[in-house]
Amino acid sequence: MAAPMTHPFLAACRREPVDRVPVWMMRQAGRYQPSYRAVRQKVSFLELCRSPELIAQVTVAPIDEFGFDAAILFSDILVHLPAMGLDLSFEKGEKGKGDGGPKIGNPVRTRADVDALRVPVPKKDLPYVLDGVRAIRTALADRVPLIGFVGGPFTVASYAVEGGSQGFTRLKTMLYAEPATAHALFEKLTQAAIVQIEEQVAAGAQAAQIFESWLGELAREDLEEFSFPYLARIAEAVRKTGVPSILFSTGTTAHLERMAKLGYDVISVDWRIPIDEARARLPGVAVQGNYDSTLLLGPREVAVARAQQLLRAAGPTPGYIFNLGHGIQVGTPTENVKAVVDAVHAFGWK
Ligand code: CP3
Repeated sequence: MAAPMTHPFLAACRREPVDRVPVWMMRQAGRYQPSYRAVRQKVSFLELCRSPELIAQVTVAPIDEFGFDAAILFSDILVHLPAMGLDLSFEKGEKGKGDGGPKIGNPVRTRADVDALRVPVPKKDLPYVLDGVRAIRTALADRVPLIGFVGGPFTVASYAVEGGSQGFTRLKTMLYAEPATAHALFEKLTQAAIVQIEEQVAAGAQAAQIFESWLGELAREDLEEFSFPYLARIAEAVRKTGVPSILFSTGTTAHLERMAKLGYDVISVDWRIPIDEARARLPGVAVQGNYDSTLLLGPREVAVARAQQLLRAAGPTPGYIFNLGHGIQVGTPTENVKAVVDAVHAFGWK
């Protein structure tokens, strides 16, 4: 590979000065894009996740189309569950949110179920992910950095225990009724996250995002007991690889000060807090996110004006990455995505 590049995205992760604010968007490769829908006409979601060539194609498409400053590996936080012994499928559905959701035929309910889970061996169980990472790096040719990712233990456990996107009551009841079983589950999912992110970085990923989307479901004492120690171990493992780490969650603005101390380089925040407040409460770490993805549905002038307002409020202090509070929504007009990326790039402090 070429010499290491200083790209605005990686510089911002390290809180180094940048010429322009870097921008990428969660779910930047997805069903809002006609090019993605064309690929999905031919293959199922899991077939797509298992083809290194298609992974590279759909990962790079939004870079070419919109000029994002980072690419994110196309995969899913649940791809390793079959290797762990869980029967994963994605329901068919093209129409919008709620369709195409994950299903697990044999959810984890008992201590015996947890003990039967196998920690995956990425080179053997997930070669297509690592081949995908290499194919993306080749296709990108160092134009922008590649972000690898894994799911956080609580979020992955919610699907594994509930059997799909069915809320959190079974998992949360497990925390209170059988804490040792819950800890054993989080331990295995933490080990699975660490080996996957280590191998993604070894294959060429240049940053690592931990998707702990549903962390906001937990009370502070449950976060302290059942989540933060595991998230800190994942941050430490990423630190040893040498790439920046990003912690993504939603609904967690009550815990920012605590999350700043978990060892991540970047904390991703949702739209429920003003960005200047978030930055003030996250000293010593870079901040990503905060733009409400619903704004991208339009009108375009409002979407652009709110992006500029966010950049002004984020301020000139190094260490801000423009992103959404959660993923791009199905039905988002591609013209609006382009207009907001262009507005972020055109924004200046002079
Ligand atoms: O951000 C990206 O562009 C990278 C790709 C990516 C996907 N999923 C592709 C995907 C990433 C980083 C994820 C992470 C993921 N997967 C999360 C955490 C992020 C978040 O949104 O909170 C979660 C909770 C999952 C599990 C998952 N995968 C669900 C609940 C669903 C169904 C909901 C939906 O949006 O359809 C998926 C499917 C999925 N993952 C799709 C994509 C593009 C849609 C599948 C399709 O093409 O039909």
